[in-house]
Amino acid sequence: MTTMTTIRLAILSLLLCGSFALAQAAADDALIQEGRTIFREVGGIGCAACHGTYALGDLQIGPVIRGVNEVRIEGALDGVEEMEFLISLISKKDITALAAYLGYLGTLEPASVTFRQGEFDPAELQVAPETQLQLIVTNLSRSDCTFSLEGVDLEPIVVPGRDANDLVWHTPVETRTLTAGCQEEAASFSIRVEPPAE
Ligand code: HEC
Repeated sequence: MTTMTTIRLAILSLLLCGSFALAQAAADDALIQEGRTIFREVGGIGCAACHGTYALGDLQIGPVIRGVNEVRIEGALDGVEEMEFLISLISKKDITALAAYLGYLGTLEPASVTFRQGEFDPAELQVAPETQLQLIVTNLSRSDCTFSLEGVDLEPIVVPGRDANDLVWHTPVETRTLTAGCQEEAASFSIRVEPPAE
């Protein structure tokens, strides 16, 4: 084999690997999105009705289930009385999608802020550096909030009135404080990126 051919083959296999990886990532993403829809809508109420929209167990009905796998979901469907009505509504494929979504949520560090009566609660949020942060914004006002992080290269999200939305941000390495808020309102709050105190 000539050197040229070897190089050509190497480039070709790199390109192939790259597009396989991309195709795989797109397939994973589609599965996660599918799981998210099932989580929110199955049986007309979704898993969300008992476990919370972000699976944080914040409704005090079902526990936190971020990070659970297929086996845990199957076990719960079999064993939890409150979940019995879901058995006939969920296929094996749905469980795979739910596990992809809940597994993905398990890789994110959740942090919540609430916008109510023109103010954010808490007024300052401390988050760890180098973390895949899932910032969950609950908007208790009537009007939409176009929410953005100042100085961060992320698309703003729209948080409809009386609803919640989230954005995922990989926090920087260095300690810093930045401002976030609704573009429609003067109100904002600060996010401090700082390692947790020992
Ligand atoms: C009507 C309320 C309700 C709905 C809807 C519901 N769950 Fe649950 N779930 C519960 C309760 C309550 C428990 C805790 C039971 C216990 O600890 O005895 C639970 C437990 C679980 C567990 C076990 C947690 C563990 O530690 O292993 C998993 C997993 C789970 N649910 C997943 C789901 C998924 C996925 C859906 C949607 C397909 C869902 N649940 C829908 C009420 C609900």
